[in-house]
Amino acid sequence: MAAERTLSIIKPDATRRNLTGKINAKFEEAGLRIVAQKRLQLTEAQAGAFYAVHKERPFYKDLVSFMISGPVVAQVLEGENAVAKNREVMGATNPANAAAGTIRKEFAESIEANSVHGSDSAENAATEIAFFFAGIEITG
Ligand code: PPS
Repeated sequence: MAAERTLSIIKPDATRRNLTGKINAKFEEAGLRIVAQKRLQLTEAQAGAFYAVHKERPFYKDLVSFMISGPVVAQVLEGENAVAKNREVMGATNPANAAAGTIRKEFAESIEANSVHGSDSAENAATEIAFFFAGIEITG
């Protein structure tokens, strides 16, 4: 199967606690290659646009505020079944339900401060990658 790509975001709770390296090690140990990566401070408009799909949900405002509370690291992960593999490595959205050894089980603080975002489908991955990266910034 051809390599797939997915968009990952290391969230402000994790950058604040200097966990970028430990989280990247989890991805690499799972066979995911980090083919693009940048650290940035999102604006409210940018975070709001990225999460627009959740606009009607009760936690939308809190989620946007949290995502602009500090820097994030946006990255493109590449590998076989990258979307599914990344979601497996991340663990369940709520760390209370995350399996042992997953990023969220080991590092997440709460359902909001849950350390990482990962695309939920190949189609959404393409849109989310294009939100953060130009093609020239991704090197396989
Ligand atoms: S999923 O994977 O999209 O089905 O997860 P979902 O439960 O729908 O959550 C979507 C994103 O919203 C975040 N979230 C919350 N933020 C703040 N407060 C509460 N209560 C809350 N519940 C869910 C969740 O972390 C997901 O963020 P991303 O960045 O997409 O992982």
